[in-house]
Amino acid sequence: MRRSREEADELLDRNRGIIDETGLGLYALELKTTEEAIGFCGLTRTDLEPHLPDGTVEIGWRLAERFWGQGHVTEAAKALLIHAFDTLGLDEVVSFAVTTNVRSTSVMRRIGMRHDPVRDFNHPRVPDSHLALKRHVLYSISRSEWQALASRNS
Ligand SMILES: CC(C)(COP(=O)(O)OP(=O)(O)OC[C@H]1O[C@@H](n2cnc3c(N)ncnc32)[C@H](O)[C@@H]1OP(=O)(O)O)[C@@H](O)C(=O)NCCC(=O)NCCS
Repeated sequence: MRRSREEADELLDRNRGIIDETGLGLYALELKTTEEAIGFCGLTRTDLEPHLPDGTVEIGWRLAERFWGQGHVTEAAKALLIHAFDTLGLDEVVSFAVTTNVRSTSVMRRIGMRHDPVRDFNHPRVPDSHLALKRHVLYSISRSEWQALASRNS
């Protein structure tokens, strides 16, 4: 369901506060050519105990549909992995999505993440009335995997 203007403003204010407090958050994506806001991509701490330990950092994204298929999220996510490992010194970044969300898992694979099937989980905040959306696949990339990838691509 679409958010109202007030709900969207509240979400953005909350997110801005989290970025200020923690250095992590969802960043707006803007097209360089037109300065249009096209979506977001960011790093956040998960709160999904016992599926993921507190403090696990997740990379996530969402793009307005008319901007799909042009590589914008892949570009942003690659830059965020540099930030995560080089600047923030994290040991691992994870990402998860509903099993059938192929567009999202394709981004995960394109940025060098790999599926870690033993960590797949049923999302606790998806109600049992929506069983098809409960199962989530977990992808991850460790600092050493990212470094190996970066040196292969340089
Ligand atoms: C998930 C989502 C962000 C992926 O968007 P996307 O446009 O497929 O991803 P990217 O921006 O990385 O673009 C990749 C596509 O651009 C193409 N592309 C073009 N130039 C590219 C480039 N330089 N680099 C990478 N890909 C490029 C790719 O081939 C791919 O094309 P495809 O659509 O034919 O597969 C989008 O589908 C979305 O917002 N979904 C709804 C929200 C959502 O599901 N969020 C995740 C919840 S877990």
